[in-house]
Parts: sequence; structure tokens; C-alpha cells
Amino acid sequence: MEAKDVPIPVPALATERRFAQCIREHLEEEQLLDGRYQLQQMPGGRVALPVLEEKLSQLCLPTDMPCELVQIQDPVPSRASRQRTPAQKLRDELQQLLGEGWSEELDRDVPHAWQRHGDLVLLSEDSFKAALWERLGKGKQGPALWKTVASALGARRVARRGRVLPDGMRTPSVTLLLGQDGWVEHVDNGIRYTFDVTKCMFSPGNITEKLRVASLPCSGEVLVDLYAGIGYFTLPFLVHAAAAFVHACEWNIHAVEALHRTLVLNGVRDRCHIHHGDSRQLELRDVADRVNLGLIPSSEEGWPVACRVLKKDTGGVLHIHHNVETPPAPALWQNPVLPAEQGSPEAASSDREAQHPVENRGKEVLGTRIRPEWQRWAEATATRIQGLLAELHGQPWHTRVLHIEAVKSYAPHVHHVVLDLECRPVLPA
Ligand SMILES: C[S@@+](CC[C@H](N)C(=O)[O-])C[C@H]1O[C@@H](n2cnc3c(N)ncnc32)[C@H](O)[C@@H]1O
Repeated sequence: MEAKDVPIPVPALATERRFAQCIREHLEEEQLLDGRYQLQQMPGGRVALPVLEEKLSQLCLPTDMPCELVQIQDPVPSRASRQRTPAQKLRDELQQLLGEGWSEELDRDVPHAWQRHGDLVLLSEDSFKAALWERLGKGKQGPALWKTVASALGARRVARRGRVLPDGMRTPSVTLLLGQDGWVEHVDNGIRYTFDVTKCMFSPGNITEKLRVASLPCSGEVLVDLYAGIGYFTLPFLVHAAAAFVHACEWNIHAVEALHRTLVLNGVRDRCHIHHGDSRQLELRDVADRVNLGLIPSSEEGWPVACRVLKKDTGGVLHIHHNVETPPAPALWQNPVLPAEQGSPEAASSDREAQHPVENRGKEVLGTRIRPEWQRWAEATATRIQGLLAELHGQPWHTRVLHIEAVKSYAPHVHHVVLDLECRPVLPA
């Protein structure tokens, strides 16, 4: 029998069944009951209530109810203790693996969070960084360590993230610690994404934006996704928002491969053209009802091409991602200024309502309201794009802030926001 299977006796108070409830309440009140174990039936109809060993010295035996201190030889874990969190399970199994070698330093360094993509667990960069873990991971016990991590977390493969490389392609430096290859399948909002975790990254932080995109009414529309990645937005536009066709631009060959496979997996390959290359050089013109510019910290370099691809007779909507600096909010936050339509005489009037302005008014996003900085950035962007469009087509256009969505807090005082900007040619009177 392995050491882990040898039961460790626990101290308990044995009493007659009719006194058990009363004694239990008393032990709970005094915080002496050991909740990790179930009450145990004893021969002769008595019941044993587990008591915390380290608190035995505080135990006063009641004089009015007959009871005695016993040992439960084969304690049964309580339901609560059997429902360990994955982090507890991971810690327990690692402790078991290392036995005597377990230390406080290792204990502190057991991760509490990770990403799961199908059967692969992706650990964060700072996981298992204590010197001893490093030594273990690289030494003879390495495979056993990563196998333990995988089994504790119900996975088959383990990888650890490094820094995202500053190569403009968001290439993650991921090391595969257990398993042969990094291709995973990740199901998100009913869409099956497939990608190689060692080559591409999946941004779980953008979940709200993916859901929002999925709910946009795009039926019959042609969309251009200028920074498609593995299809985080292309797929929701095609699968849920019913876009008729998407032109997806991406310059990272690994993301292109993942996007291709993901489109096939979801049965929408025939409604997407992948443009492999720099989206700034995209040769399309006059095709889009909608353009997605999902690049942070800024998608500004894509604004001219977004203007070119919009349908010149009817215009459309741009979804512009940007990181906006937002100083800490003062305690009493004033109501935001409503979005003003650019290119109209009333642009400065504070009382005009854009198409969905009420959505923004006083809305709590990430614990904050729509901030004046976001509003100012949105209005400046609307003005810039209006200028680009007018210059491109030699006729006036108007732009209108439809919505500002706060996606996530990117860094202290920096928010990733998305501006939905409606752009229309001004029709001759
Ligand atoms: C942030 S990722 C896209 C992720 C996705 N939009 C999201 O927010 O989850 C940006 C993608 O744009 C690609 N990219 C950046 N600049 C590009 C350019 N000029 N032309 C084509 N692709 C580009 C990168 O390779 C990367 O896959």
C-alpha cells in the first residue's frame, strides 16, 4: 500500500446519539469541530465527532452529557473537504509528490490561476518560478512534476507562457512542458477555435467584446477585419452576427493557418477571404459595410485603409480599438458629455443624442462610468476620420459616435476601449 493510502487517525468526542447535536453545536461554536471529516457511527449506537487536534488543549468535556475522547481510526473526508478547488488539488498532489522536500517556498509558489485550452493547461509566466521548481522541472523529476500538474488539473498537456514578443505579431513565447504539440481546440460562445499555443495567443480578456460583436445585426453585410489574428472577431461576425462575407487580413503565417483551420472547423470557410500580408497594403476598395480594427495599443495606422475599404456610396461602421489613458476617477464622477455628431452645425450642442447614446450615459463599465477621456478620444477620432474620408472622396462625409465600449483595464489607468463610428457620405441636397 502506498503511503498516501494509510489513514491517519483523528481525535473525536464520542457520545450517545441523543447528545450528538448539542455537542456538535458546542464544538462548532468553540471552533473545535474538524470539518474535514464526517461524523462517525460507533459500536453501541454512539456517534464520534471529529475534533481539531491542534485545539485539543482547549477542549472542556461537558459534565452534564456523557462523552469521551476517542480516535477515529479510518476517518471519512466530509463532502465539503472532498470538493477541493483545482488549486487545492494541485497543491495537495504536488505536496504528495515531493513528500519531505515540501517547503513553504514551494507552497507559496503553487499557481492559483491558469488558462485552459481543451486538454492543455497554459500556465502564466510567473508560475513555478521558485528555484527548486526550476531545478525539479529540468531534472529527472521534471516529467513527474508536469504529469502531476496535468493530472491534478484534469489536463493532458502543460505549457508555460513567456513574454509576448514585441514583433508586431503578438507571438507568445510559450514552452511546452508536457505533450508533443501545441495545437488546441478552444470552444468559446459556441465557436470552435483551433490554434497552436506556442505560435498564437488567445485573448480571454476580450470576451465581452466578442460577445458584443456576436450580437450585432450584420445580416447581409460585407466586413473587413484588418487584424484578424486567429479569428477572434471574424468568427463571431460570421457565425453569430450573420455577416454575409468577411475579408480577414493577417500578416502572421501561424495565425493565418489557425484562422483557415478555424473557418473550416465552423463550416464558414466559403464566406471568408484571408488576405495574408500587411493590412496597410490591402488593395481592396469600396467593399465594406463594416470594418473591424482590433489592434491595441492603437489601430491608427489602419484608419486610412479602413476609409478606403468602406463602401463609397453608403459608408458604414468602423469598430476602432484603442488604449486610452484614464487618470483615476474622482470620488464623485460627473455624467459624461453625450457623443456629438461630427460635421454638423450642432456638433457642439450638449443635448443631442447619438443613435444609442443612452447606453453610455452613466453606464458602469469595469466599475467606472464612460470617462470624459474616452469621450474626448472618440470625438477627436471621429473628426480625424471624417477628414480622411472627405479627402479620399473629395466630398463631405459625416461621422457619428454610436457607442463606446470599455473592453478591459489594460494597465493601471489605461483602458482598452472600442469606438463604434458611423461614417456616411453627405448626400447632395
Ligand atoms: C491583438 S491581435 C488580434 C487579436 C484580436 N483582434 C483580439 O483583440 O483578440 C492583432 C493581430 O493583428 C496582426 N497584425 C498587426 N499588425 C498587422 C498588420 N499591419 N497587418 C496585418 N496583420 C497585423 C497581428 O499579427 C495579430 O495577429
